[in-house]
Amino acid sequence: MKYKKIVAPSILSANFSKMDREIDEINKSGAQWIHFDVMDGSFVPPITFGDKMLKDLKPLSGLVMDVHLMVEHPQTQVKSFIEAGADYLTFHVEVCRHSHGLLTTIRECGCKAGISIVPSTPIDSIRELLPFCDLVLVMTVNPGFGGQKMISSMLKKVQSLQKIREEEFLDFLISIDGGVNLNTLAQVKEVGPDVLVTGSAFFSAEDKGQFVEKLLQ
Ligand code: DX5
Ligand code: ZN
Repeated sequence: MKYKKIVAPSILSANFSKMDREIDEINKSGAQWIHFDVMDGSFVPPITFGDKMLKDLKPLSGLVMDVHLMVEHPQTQVKSFIEAGADYLTFHVEVCRHSHGLLTTIRECGCKAGISIVPSTPIDSIRELLPFCDLVLVMTVNPGFGGQKMISSMLKKVQSLQKIREEEFLDFLISIDGGVNLNTLAQVKEVGPDVLVTGSAFFSAEDKGQFVEKLLQ
């Protein structure tokens, strides 16, 4: 099976009081992307940070900035996140009435466009959107918190997406988010998503380089 191998540590699990050093740890780890979990206290209970966090951290890393908007009104946020330096900007289909329009806007602004689905949302609900996506983010936990247990049955969605991608000659990346750690790695590798988001496992790893290497193997 051919797939990209990208590791995207999520700064949700970083220590916000020393973000420059945390970014440095990611830079040195061998990970290729940095995942930004933006939460608004409405789509999910917690509030994390907005575009200013990205704008301030962008100069500290040459890695790909992968923004995951867990917000109720993504259409009001996309422009400011793109200006702040997002390379990939992903929003949830569950909150957007005109997802095709928003994906198109993101691409027109020169950014890669992503769509995400929570565990209860089937692949069918994004079927028509796939030709307009650069990334599909499959949530393998319910969004809102780091450190949750992976809902392994969600990995089937990765296989369904791979099948559609191949049959229809599409080229979006498939990312999984939630519960990726050394205990779940074997089942994850079996399906082979392109991007592995990892929050708590990355930041609690003593040797982050070694941890990333295991994910990339
Ligand atoms: C959850 C976030 C995830 C989170 C993953 O809502 O979207 O990106 O940081 O954290 P872990 O890897 O700890 O499950
Ligand atoms: Zn995320």
